[in-house]
Amino acid sequence: MFEVLSNEVLAENLHKMVVSAPRIAKARKAGQFVIVRLAQGEERIPLTIGDADAAAGTITLFIQAIGASTRRIVQTQPGGFIRDVAGPLGKETHITNWGRVACIGGGVGTAVLFPLVKALHEAGNQITTIIGGRSERYIILENELTPLSEEFLVTTEDGSRGFKGFVTGPLSELLADPEKAPKAVFAVGPVPMMKAVANLTREKGIETIVSLNPIMIDGTGMCGGCRVQIGNETKFACVDGPEFDAHLVDFDGLSDRLTSYRKEEATCLAAECK
Ligand code: FES
Repeated sequence: MFEVLSNEVLAENLHKMVVSAPRIAKARKAGQFVIVRLAQGEERIPLTIGDADAAAGTITLFIQAIGASTRRIVQTQPGGFIRDVAGPLGKETHITNWGRVACIGGGVGTAVLFPLVKALHEAGNQITTIIGGRSERYIILENELTPLSEEFLVTTEDGSRGFKGFVTGPLSELLADPEKAPKAVFAVGPVPMMKAVANLTREKGIETIVSLNPIMIDGTGMCGGCRVQIGNETKFACVDGPEFDAHLVDFDGLSDRLTSYRKEEATCLAAECK
């Protein structure tokens, strides 16, 4: 059993939970994730390890409560317990000093981006961070990301904060600036956002890494649920990823698979909300 030490609401349906998990906190690397199961018989939910404190024996999870299972998880209050937290899973992010990098986060993807920005900062990179959201209240982790970034930019679709529009606006300007153009780009967020970023950087030949969020079940490469097409190869995001070369990802296929169970998810949620 894993004790929940804190549970904070960061934005609508987005919680930050600190959980006691000493062995995972000690072993985890940036880019890795855990699979969480609230209780026996519950759904297994993959969650990026947003941060960890090896000395305190804690990990930080950012949870978007949009389905029946995630809604039940975020109802766990400090002092409560999660039955299973399995991990760390997946490959760690390849971190090096590229010099200049850009880190792009969309919505809850910003929470997945945070440990990457931290690791890239520690490796000496100069980082331009661009965070996008539907409106100001969906911009998260600004206080945490600003000190790690040489430049921190915000975009909102409704213009309530920062640039009006999408993250690709300021990214295009950045790519066109010879003094600021990044050597590598990291992007995490909705599939259309990652696809748009990949299309922009492909033209410029800039190495681009995305963290994918397919449906996962076992998290060990056995079930095939998380398969994604990367170039000519089928990969399993849980063991081969979750990060991949954005220029090789079949984003349309990923999008199709992510919506496969939408009807069942809606039925489940409706039953939960009765
Ligand atoms: Fe089952 Fe990846 S989650 S193979």
